[in-house]
Amino acid sequence: MTMDLNSVHQRLHTGSKKWSQYPEDVLPMWVADMDFPVAEPIVQALTARLQHPLLGYSVAQDTLRQTLVAHLAQHYAWQVKPEELVFLPGVEPGVNMALNALVPEGSGVLVQTPNYAPLLDAPGHWNLSRIDLPFHADADGQYPTDIAALQGVLPKVRALLLSNPHNPLGKVFDAQELRAIGDACVQNDVLIVSDEIHADILFDGRQHTPIASLSPAIADRTVTLMSASKAWNIAGMKTAFAVIQNPDLRLRFNAGRLGLVDSVNALGLDATQAAYSKGAPWLTRVIAYLQDNRDYLANAIKTRFPGISMNLPQSTYLAWLDCSGLDIENPQQFFLNEAKVALSAGHEFGDDCGQFVRLNFGCPRSMLEEALARMERSLQRRG
Ligand SMILES: Cc1ncc(COP(=O)(O)O)c(C=O)c1O
Repeated sequence: MTMDLNSVHQRLHTGSKKWSQYPEDVLPMWVADMDFPVAEPIVQALTARLQHPLLGYSVAQDTLRQTLVAHLAQHYAWQVKPEELVFLPGVEPGVNMALNALVPEGSGVLVQTPNYAPLLDAPGHWNLSRIDLPFHADADGQYPTDIAALQGVLPKVRALLLSNPHNPLGKVFDAQELRAIGDACVQNDVLIVSDEIHADILFDGRQHTPIASLSPAIADRTVTLMSASKAWNIAGMKTAFAVIQNPDLRLRFNAGRLGLVDSVNALGLDATQAAYSKGAPWLTRVIAYLQDNRDYLANAIKTRFPGISMNLPQSTYLAWLDCSGLDIENPQQFFLNEAKVALSAGHEFGDDCGQFVRLNFGCPRSMLEEALARMERSLQRRG
């Protein structure tokens, strides 16, 4: 298998969202897709699929269900039945479908902040009110859930939107914390919508725990959303799946699918099958590369960027940079205009996050070095 993660692939004019958003002289380090070509088995599966040039409405085959069930058992010790999987055109649509189908209009939805903007926005699409529960970093740079505060607010809501592993903090929830969150939701009869799209990118040998795997009572009230899209870099395939073990919940979710029948992207299904069944060697290499990039970035921030700080992400390829020591009103705009580096703006992830930017380090090292060099020079010019 040829796999040179250091090579820079030209993505301008390929329809890449990441590379189309800003002028060509801007280095895009924002939206969460990686600048690495996909695993060879995915290319082979797609090429083989196109030998049969019919691309009508498509549904997941038993083999794909079996592959996913095996993956969930092997990687997270989670026993799921094939019929408990529901295929979707994306995790973000899945979150919205769950809120629309399962949460009574006018009720409250709890979201931990900061958080991925489409999760923050989702309750508003369905006439639901969002209640924020902020994370606070502790002295070790961890972001523990404030369980007492959670218990205080759960009686006021009907659903919790969980991001695990967490975007943008890169936090991996451990089983004990998830258990406390899940039990509190059971006690308060709160639905859990758990976005676990980053579950397969974990650093330092960490393990992912699906919250629904922790007890039947938690599973009974949980919609878990997963996809190969982040780990195997196939976000453009627009294919994801939900695990809904409670048959009644699954029925209601399916009934409220906004006209999207159980049919998803034909090629996405084959790409997903190839990713989970044959993509492990590629992913192992990519995770090692990302972890090196993460450490390189953290060291650069510490040694070359007084005024910026970051905690080590435990997952994802996203770093949450606190720029409050720079004394710049809008750091995202500053780096865009002065360094020609496009980062994600902190304010998208929650109130009071305007001093943060999110940097995507899922790219060849030379690209990361270039972004940091541009940012460093822009700060030096400023004096
Ligand atoms: C936490 C999280 N959820 C959902 C998504 C989007 O998923 P999809 O493209 O499958 O809708 C992303 C993409 O960055 C994400 O980070």
